[in-house]
Amino acid sequence: MLDSTGGTTRGETLIDPVVFNPYDYAFHEDPYPTYARLRAEAPLYHNPEIGFWALSRHADVQEAFKDNTRLSSANGVSLDPAAYGPHAHLVMSFLAMDDPRHMRLRQLVSRGFTPRRVGELDGRILELTRQYLDPALAAGEFDWIAEVAGKLPMDVISELMGVPGPDRAELRRLADLVVHREDGVLDVPQASVAASISLMGYYKDMIEQRRRSRTEDLTSALLDAEIDGDKLSDQEILAFMFLMVVAGNETTTKLLGNALYWGGRHPDQVAGVLGDPDRVPDWVEETLRFDTSSQIVARTTAVDVEYHGRTVPAGEKMLLLIGSANRDGEVFEDADEFQIGRDSTNKIASFGGGVHFCLGAHLARLEANVALTEFARLVRGYEVDESGIERVHSTNVRGFAALPVKVQVR
Ligand code: HEM
Repeated sequence: MLDSTGGTTRGETLIDPVVFNPYDYAFHEDPYPTYARLRAEAPLYHNPEIGFWALSRHADVQEAFKDNTRLSSANGVSLDPAAYGPHAHLVMSFLAMDDPRHMRLRQLVSRGFTPRRVGELDGRILELTRQYLDPALAAGEFDWIAEVAGKLPMDVISELMGVPGPDRAELRRLADLVVHREDGVLDVPQASVAASISLMGYYKDMIEQRRRSRTEDLTSALLDAEIDGDKLSDQEILAFMFLMVVAGNETTTKLLGNALYWGGRHPDQVAGVLGDPDRVPDWVEETLRFDTSSQIVARTTAVDVEYHGRTVPAGEKMLLLIGSANRDGEVFEDADEFQIGRDSTNKIASFGGGVHFCLGAHLARLEANVALTEFARLVRGYEVDESGIERVHSTNVRGFAALPVKVQVR
C-alpha cells in the first residue's frame, strides 16, 4: 500500500519507495530484486530525474510490444542516446522506425533473410565453433568470451553476408570498437565513430561489388529482393547490415556467456545436459528467460497513455523491462529459480513482440544451440572462475566482458 509520501507500508514499517536507476552499477550486479519490487509496488514507474517511465509486468510489457500506434520506436529504442551516438547519423535502421516505413523495409529484408537461409548455416556454425573451441579446450583454462563467445556471432554474420574469410578478423575488431566499452561501459570515443565509418565503408564496397556480380550470399539476395517492383536501395541494405552488427552480435555473445555462467552456478543441472546434449536447447531457453542479454528496450509515447490509473503524457520515454517480464511469477512458476527444462518458449519476452519481433531470434537460437551442443559433446564438466569475471555495464545489454572457465574434456 502507498502512503502519502510515496513510501510503502508493510504492517507498521515504512519502506522507502522503490528506486530504479538503469545506470547504477549495483543494479547491474543483480537487477532482479529491483524488478520484483517494481512489479509489486510500482508497475508503472516514473523516474523524473533521469526522465523515463517503465513497465515491468509481463502482461504490460507484452501488450506494449504490440501497441505500436501509441508507443513509437521512431526516436530510438534505447534509453541511452549514446548507445546509438556514433552511428545514429550514419544509419537509420528499421528497428528505430514505425510502420509503414518499418514494415516496408522489414518485408523486403525478410525476402533475403529467410529461415531457410539461416537454417542452412548450421554446418558452418559448427565449423566455426570448432575452430575456436578446439584450441581453447586443448588449453583447458580459457576466457569463454575472448576465445569463443566473442568471436562466433560476428563471424556468423560475416558468413551470411558473404564476407571472405581473410577479412573477418578485421570486421570483428571493428564491430567490437563500434560498441566500444571502456571498463565495460559504453562510451562514445572517436575510435567508435571511426570504426563505424570503416565498417560502413567495407559493406558499401561489398554491395557495389555484388551489384556488378551476384553470388549466393545474403548481400546478393538483398539486392534482388523485390515486392511489387519495390526494391531496397544500397543505403537501405547498408543500414540493415549495420543493424545486424549492432542488434545481433553482442546480444548473442552475451547469451553464450550467460548460459555458461548460470550453468556453472547449477552444476547438478548442467551435468545432466553435458551427459545428454539433446537437452542443450532447454539450457539455452532457460538462459534466455532467466537472464536475457537484451534487458530493456524503449519507446516514446506518441499520445497520452494510461497505465495503472496514471496518465503518461505524449513525448515521454517508456522503458519495457524484458528482464523483469521474464521473472514475473504470474506467468512463470518459481520464476526466480533457474530450471533447465521448464517449458517457457512461447512466453518469454526476450526477443520482443509484435511487428518489431527480433528478426534474428532463429539465428540466435541456432547459434547458441550448435555451439553449446558441441561444447556438451566435448566437455564432461567445467567451472567458472568467479574471481576473474567482468560484467559489462549497460542500460540494455546484460552479460560478461570476461568469463574465465576451466574445463574437463572427455
Ligand atoms: C529486434 C533481442 C539476436 C536482429 C530485437 C528486439 C529484441 C531483440 C528484444 C526487439 C526490439 C524492439 O522491439 O525495439 C535479441 C536477442 C538476441 C538477438 C536477446 C540474442 C540472444 C539477433 C540476431 C540478429 C538480430 C542474431 C540478426 C543477425 C534483429 C533485428 C531486429 C531485432 C533486425 C529489428 C526488428 C524490427 O525492428 O522489425 N532483437 N536479438 N537479433 N533483432 Fe534481435
